[in-house]
Amino acid sequence: MNEAEIVDKILRQIAKTDFSATAENNQAISLFETTIRYLGGLLSAYDLLSGPFKHLVKEPRLRDTLLEKAQILANSLSIAFDTPSGVPDDEIIFNPKPRQVGNPDNSITCIGTLVLEWTRLSDLTGNLTYAALAQRAQAHLLHPKPEGFRLPGLVGTYVRLNDGAFEDYQAGWGGGSDSYYEYLIKMYAYDPVSFVEYKDSWVAAAESSMKYLASHPTTRTDLTFLGEFRGNSTVPMSSHLASVCGGSFILGGLLLQNQTFVDFGLELSKSYYEVYRQSPSGIGPEEFRWVDDHQELTKAAANRPPPKKWRSFYETSGYWPTNGEFILRPETIESLYHAYRATGDQQWQAWAWEAFETLNLRTRVEGGFSGLHNVMTKPHGDKDVQRIDKMESFWLAETLKYLYLIFADDAEYQVRSDGRMKYVFTTEAHPLRIRHK
Ligand SMILES: *[C@@H]1O[C@H](CO)[C@@H](O)[C@H](O)[C@H]1NC(C)=O
Ligand SMILES: *[C@@H]1O[C@H](CO)[C@@H](O)[C@H](O)[C@H]1NC(C)=O
Ligand SMILES: *[C@@H]1O[C@H](CO)[C@@H](O)[C@H](O)[C@H]1NC(C)=O
Repeated sequence: MNEAEIVDKILRQIAKTDFSATAENNQAISLFETTIRYLGGLLSAYDLLSGPFKHLVKEPRLRDTLLEKAQILANSLSIAFDTPSGVPDDEIIFNPKPRQVGNPDNSITCIGTLVLEWTRLSDLTGNLTYAALAQRAQAHLLHPKPEGFRLPGLVGTYVRLNDGAFEDYQAGWGGGSDSYYEYLIKMYAYDPVSFVEYKDSWVAAAESSMKYLASHPTTRTDLTFLGEFRGNSTVPMSSHLASVCGGSFILGGLLLQNQTFVDFGLELSKSYYEVYRQSPSGIGPEEFRWVDDHQELTKAAANRPPPKKWRSFYETSGYWPTNGEFILRPETIESLYHAYRATGDQQWQAWAWEAFETLNLRTRVEGGFSGLHNVMTKPHGDKDVQRIDKMESFWLAETLKYLYLIFADDAEYQVRSDGRMKYVFTTEAHPLRIRHK
């Protein structure tokens, strides 16, 4: 946002921060969360302040500190990869003695959403170890064992650390899986020559999603959601996290110049935003279900009708909530952003503005923004609102950033409709410069 004073203040704070220790001893931290929030943030700031925002840097030495701190952090985190298979333990402890917590397995989200940041770090520093660690772990997801998975490209959720084999076959775009698929196509955006295999996996997953997971509610056949594959059948349920699928299809379609993927992504983006529009508060819930109209892919037991309480709501909205929380998540807005950048159609901006006004009205508190316990009721005044006393960093890093960028001028770091991106957004919406050709 071109705020030079704030950039300077943040750079000074980072220079003072020790990224090799936690405040408390024996505090477990997540490799995944630390990579996407801290490492990605440091690298993105370095890329932006070396490129389009160079003019904001008062002291180049402070900008270079970003890269030094990123290395210190990654060196400390790298102990997570020291397992028989190279699949990292997601939880590690920095102090007093660096060690892994000792989990037996890890999810494809936590394993498969490291490779962009760790590869960028290698490219910027010349130390190839970072990329090698993340790509070795990723290889277990690109070539899943045991073989014989039913849906091409869609893999299970949990992988064992000792041999890199999958433990289950629960597939879909929800929590535990979501950003693995997102990163397959983003690695192709980062370098389409080196990561062509990642693109092939994304295309297989995208085609399987269209064929086996796409589902229309009986009462709103105009809507398309992606269900979750469980026990050999598609269960008509989805989540706020899964609404990132619209954006991923659009981005993949633009990069591959394939209108089929773009159009399907637009259909998903519109449908998941309809969840917001139909909700009494104007904000979509954490998890929801519907009844699948097709019933070919879905077992009868999984295709159950809504509870009595939600029957009339389901008639008009096409879904009912199974978890009414909202923790300031970005994914639905992120898909609106991609839809607008792909089409230039102002309808998407109008919806983004509508969402922004609602979020500002419902989540703003003194000194910040709060999550909500239940977005499926319309509050009758402020006392009625049950707040979650927490503001996640992704509210600023993603939700507000994507809202801002939908209305911001065109720029080299924005997603481009012709597919010729210069930057790729990490899963935490930190733009990284793509590999120079
Ligand atoms: C390169 O990165 C690895 C992994 O963090 C680290 O152990 C090693 O010391 C680094 N090498 C140099 C020359 O900094
Ligand atoms: C799923 O279907 C495949 C092929 O029809 C079958 O081999 C497998 O046993 C089934 N698995 C479960 C858990 O039902
Ligand atoms: C786009 O992708 C779809 C689905 O994979 C495929 O059927 C179609 O042939 C592709 N179109 C082009 C122009 O590559």
